[in-house]
Amino acid sequence: MDETPHLSVLLEDVVDLLAVRPGGLYADGTLGWGGHAAAVVSRGGRVVGTDRDAEALAAARTRLGPEAELHHARFSALPALLAGRLADGILLDLGVSSPQLDRPERGFSFRLNGPLDMRMDPSSGESAAEWLARVGADELADVLYKYGEERQSRRVARAIIARRSVEPPEPLVTTRQLAELVASVVRAEGRIHPATRTFQGIRIAINDELGELERALAALPDCLAPGGRLVVISFHSLEDRAVKSAFRRLAGEDAPRDLYGNPVSTTPFRLVERRARRGDADVNPRARSARLRVLERIA
Ligand SMILES: C[S@@+](CC[C@H](N)C(=O)[O-])C[C@H]1O[C@@H](n2cnc3c(N)ncnc32)[C@H](O)[C@@H]1O
Repeated sequence: MDETPHLSVLLEDVVDLLAVRPGGLYADGTLGWGGHAAAVVSRGGRVVGTDRDAEALAAARTRLGPEAELHHARFSALPALLAGRLADGILLDLGVSSPQLDRPERGFSFRLNGPLDMRMDPSSGESAAEWLARVGADELADVLYKYGEERQSRRVARAIIARRSVEPPEPLVTTRQLAELVASVVRAEGRIHPATRTFQGIRIAINDELGELERALAALPDCLAPGGRLVVISFHSLEDRAVKSAFRRLAGEDAPRDLYGNPVSTTPFRLVERRARRGDADVNPRARSARLRVLERIA
């Protein structure tokens, strides 16, 4: 296990918003290399955590010590793993970590050559190469458009499907092959690599990232103790939109308003802040697109 650092995004904000108290129970659904969770532990919080990446989990275990209760699992399993215990705070720091992106063998990077994998949990499900070898043109184009925000999605999808019938066969099995194929049909815009959006779209699809988020947003608020907070950091507009609308609905923001403009509702949740906090790209380039939202179970 190398010691590649992952700078935790919005670390101070997370610590401040979770208001960690000694002995409190905090669930971290996306442990990664354990940066946020370590801050919780250092303030005396007890941590229950998940990561679907066994390597990340091992690194988090080393960092957090034996007291932390860590599970190799998806965060949608947190409610079952908490088994009725109510958390004083829950954190989801979505997406992939720098160590995942920076390791060629994980297949997330279009800059580094490696197997075309992109699974956060390489022990389960289909790799990107397997998925690209069977997906239909329409589904692929939709994924690239929706999750990758690739405006030339049909063109990229056609090139990927056409690759299946070249003679002699040359299946797409490496990140470099895919990056070069995309670059051959998509114009570069500024300093962004032409394959950036395609890689993002495929990664979100094969890891079912939005499905995971949806399931978590449906179940995690009920795992909060009174006064407990759910903090979600997202890196993609689709994720942020899902978080924003789930939190607004839970906080009764869509409910009818009284004379003073306050929502008339009896929901046990409230928005701690109406606007998303943004990451600071000067501190950490990964934070450029970060949006943090927080929901509280009313005490
Ligand atoms: C941005 S990193 C988290 C970094 C961490 N907060 C830190 O400070 O080091 C996201 C992590 O969440 C994991 N992850 C993403 N989606 C997940 C899911 N649905 N279930 C469990 N882990 C997930 C990834 O494997 C990755 O390790």
